[in-house]
Amino acid sequence: MIEFANITKIFGPNPQLIMNMINDGVDNAVINKNKGNTIGLREVSFKLNEGEILTIMGLSGSGKSTLLKIVNGLIHPTFGYVSLYNKKIDNLSSREIRELRLRSISMVFQGHALFPHRNVMKNISFGLELQDSSFNYRSYNFDQILDQVGLSGFEEYYPHQLSGGMQQRVGLARALATGAPILLMDEPFSSLDSLTRREMQDLLISLQKRLNKTIIFVTHDFPEALKLGHNMVILRDGEIVQQGKGKEIVKNPIDDYVREILK
Ligand SMILES: Nc1ncnc2c1ncn2[C@@H]1O[C@H](COP(=O)(O)OP(=O)(O)OP(=O)(O)O)[C@@H](O)[C@H]1O
Ligand SMILES: [Mg+2]
Repeated sequence: MIEFANITKIFGPNPQLIMNMINDGVDNAVINKNKGNTIGLREVSFKLNEGEILTIMGLSGSGKSTLLKIVNGLIHPTFGYVSLYNKKIDNLSSREIRELRLRSISMVFQGHALFPHRNVMKNISFGLELQDSSFNYRSYNFDQILDQVGLSGFEEYYPHQLSGGMQQRVGLARALATGAPILLMDEPFSSLDSLTRREMQDLLISLQKRLNKTIIFVTHDFPEALKLGHNMVILRDGEIVQQGKGKEIVKNPIDDYVREILK
C-alpha cells in the first residue's frame, strides 16, 4: 500500500553532485565532508501493507522525520519515489496532494501540537473544518471519537487544563476524526511518563485493530517499537541498516549500532 522505492534525499545546494557520488558508491562519511550538503536518506526501500504498523528507529539525525515528510509530500526525494495505492506521490497535482493530506494521511507529533485557544472539541474538529468549509461542530456528534480515545466529558476543556497524556489523546482523536486510513506518527509518546506511555501504546494497538489503520511510527524506544510494530526499519545516517520483524532483529542484530539501539 505504501512503497518506498530507492529513496535518496539530499539537502543542500548541489544534490546532483552528491547523487553522482552515491551512484559511485562513495561513503556517507566522505560525502558529508562536502560542505553544505547533507544526506537525509540514502537508497531507502521498503513496503508496508494495509493495516500494518511499521516502526522506524535510529539515532538522532538518521532520517526518520525526513522519511515521514516524504510520505506526506512535504518534501520531495532527490531520487526514487514513494507510492501510495500504486500512485507515485511526485506525479500528483498540488490539488491531489492537498486532498491526500486532508483525507488520506494524518500526522501525530511529539508534544501534542494542540491549539491552545481551542477546546478539546474544536481541536479534534480542526481537520474536519479543513475538509469542509461549511463544517459545523454543533451538528457533529463527537461521542464516538471521544469515547474511542477516553475523553468523554472533556469536550469543553482547553489544552492547558489537561495532563500530557490527555493532550496526546486529543492529538490522536484529531488524527482519527478525519477518517484518514494512514497515520504518520513522529515520536508521539516520547514526552509522556512510562505508565501513561504504556496506556497510550495499548490504546493505539486497540484502535488500530478496530480501525485497521496503516501506521508508520517513529520512536527512539525499542520496547515501544517491539510492542507496536509488525515490522521495523532501523536507520543510520539515512541508510537502512536492518529491517524485518522486531523479534528477528533482537535475535540477530546485524552490528554494534543495532545492538546499541536495542539496549
Ligand atoms: N530542511 C533541512 N535542511 C538541511 N538538512 C536537513 C533538513 N532536514 C533534515 N536535515 C538533515 O537530514 C538529516 C536527517 O534529519 P531528520 O530530521 O530526518 O532526523 P531524525 O532521525 O528525525 O532525527 P531526530 O531523532 O533528532 O528527530 C539530519 O542530518 C538533518 O540535519
Ligand atoms: Mg525527527
